[in-house]
Amino acid sequence: MNQTVHIPVMLEETMLGLEVRPGGVWVDGTLGGGSHTRALLERSAPDGIVYSFDVDPKALERAKESLASFGDRFQPVEANFRHLDDRLAERGVMSVDGILLDLGVSSDEIADSSKGLSFMTEGPLDMRLGPKANEDGLTAADIVNTWKPNEIEQLIREFGEEKFAKRIVDAIVTARKSSRITRTTELAGIIKQAVPSSYERGRIHPATRTFQALRIAVNDEMETLKEAIDGAHRILAPGARLAVIAFHSLEDRIVKVAFKDKERWEPLTKRPQEATEQEITKNSRSRSAKLRIAKKK
Ligand SMILES: C[S@@+](CC[C@H](N)C(=O)[O-])C[C@H]1O[C@@H](n2cnc3c(N)ncnc32)[C@H](O)[C@@H]1O
Repeated sequence: MNQTVHIPVMLEETMLGLEVRPGGVWVDGTLGGGSHTRALLERSAPDGIVYSFDVDPKALERAKESLASFGDRFQPVEANFRHLDDRLAERGVMSVDGILLDLGVSSDEIADSSKGLSFMTEGPLDMRLGPKANEDGLTAADIVNTWKPNEIEQLIREFGEEKFAKRIVDAIVTARKSSRITRTTELAGIIKQAVPSSYERGRIHPATRTFQALRIAVNDEMETLKEAIDGAHRILAPGARLAVIAFHSLEDRIVKVAFKDKERWEPLTKRPQEATEQEITKNSRSRSAKLRIAKKK
């Protein structure tokens, strides 16, 4: 079996925050490597049901094998979590006891060169997490090769918070005049050439922010998150909880703002919870994690 390499983030904190208990219906909007789903299944034993969504068919295939021992209690769903309530209603589920969204991409997806998410690995400039990740089939190559320079610049500035956006876009526009930019490493090279050499000596690779911005745009991550929080509110039982783990400030802001709606949510985390030093030492990915939990009113 193709095993996951993804290490779960803030596992104990999310289970405690959701008050997972025996029985009930639980939703993992982001199955990934399956560790949070496994914990939901274990803690809702003997008869709790867990619906786990992912847009990446490979994540679902892997989990169907690794979680097979839970039988029908594990319900994998290949769908976008932006349609969470509709996809559950189609399955006859009208109310659930808790929902988790552990946002972003898994380490399995970064390692999968065919998705083109990593600037370190040669791959196609695609970045869709799966066939249902977006509705228009947009890829990262479409953006860098066909969008107007000012549109690409705005995207890199907004979703990447990249201060060298203008220089990067100028370099992209020069490069695409001679031939279409189609590979991850090709784009990473163009970016590296465009930014000051001091950037390279910094904490992150010069292509990090641009790649993040392209991934967010391709998978329409911001709008998807807003819709998912609304959908979660519609399907949660009154008093049931939504937990969201965000990995960058733009996502966290969306969650924070949504949970401020006093008519709909009672936030249980005034400030977002962060991973312990111990967890960060074991898993550096957890360094940027911010967990917010709210109760449906
Ligand atoms: C950070 S990983 C989740 C890891 C998981 N909690 C674990 O412990 O293994 C995020 C997962 O969510 C999936 N995903 C991202 N956006 C999605 C969306 N809009 N709908 C459904 N799944 C999505 C990704 O494909 C990825 O597998």
